[in-house]
Amino acid sequence: MNRKELIDHAFNAMKNSYAPYSQFHVGAALATTDGRVFYGANIENASYGATNCAERSAMFSAYSNGVRKQEIQAIAIVADGETIASPCGICRQVMAELLNEDTPVYLSNGKKEMDLTVKDLLPYAFTQEDLK
Ligand code: THU
Repeated sequence: MNRKELIDHAFNAMKNSYAPYSQFHVGAALATTDGRVFYGANIENASYGATNCAERSAMFSAYSNGVRKQEIQAIAIVADGETIASPCGICRQVMAELLNEDTPVYLSNGKKEMDLTVKDLLPYAFTQEDLK
């Protein structure tokens, strides 16, 4: 799966965004090394704190289907705003747990793009290593 294809998948996933409160639509697509794609969208809640971000939805979908970090090739996160949706702190922490630190993270809003890694987004992450 190339970068452009994965970003296109994320824009498709964004169509399922449920964002009646923010009207800020986010989509995510996660590719596995064997060519599968798992989708996520932001799913909001009247109790705002119960909202789930698009990238967490995609990671949880992949894990719920038995995928583990060794098989994850990349994740794309896209939004329809004026700026690129930079993953929130909670999502960065979840990425540090569920993805490899060198896993590519492609961000796009259709106008601007940025390619990062999980480690770029959360250096010095608190991980299971710290619990030993
Ligand atoms: N959101 C995401 O889904 N991913 C991000 O990377 C940034 C923020 C969502 C959460 C909420 O539904 C809306 O965008 C506004 O914060």
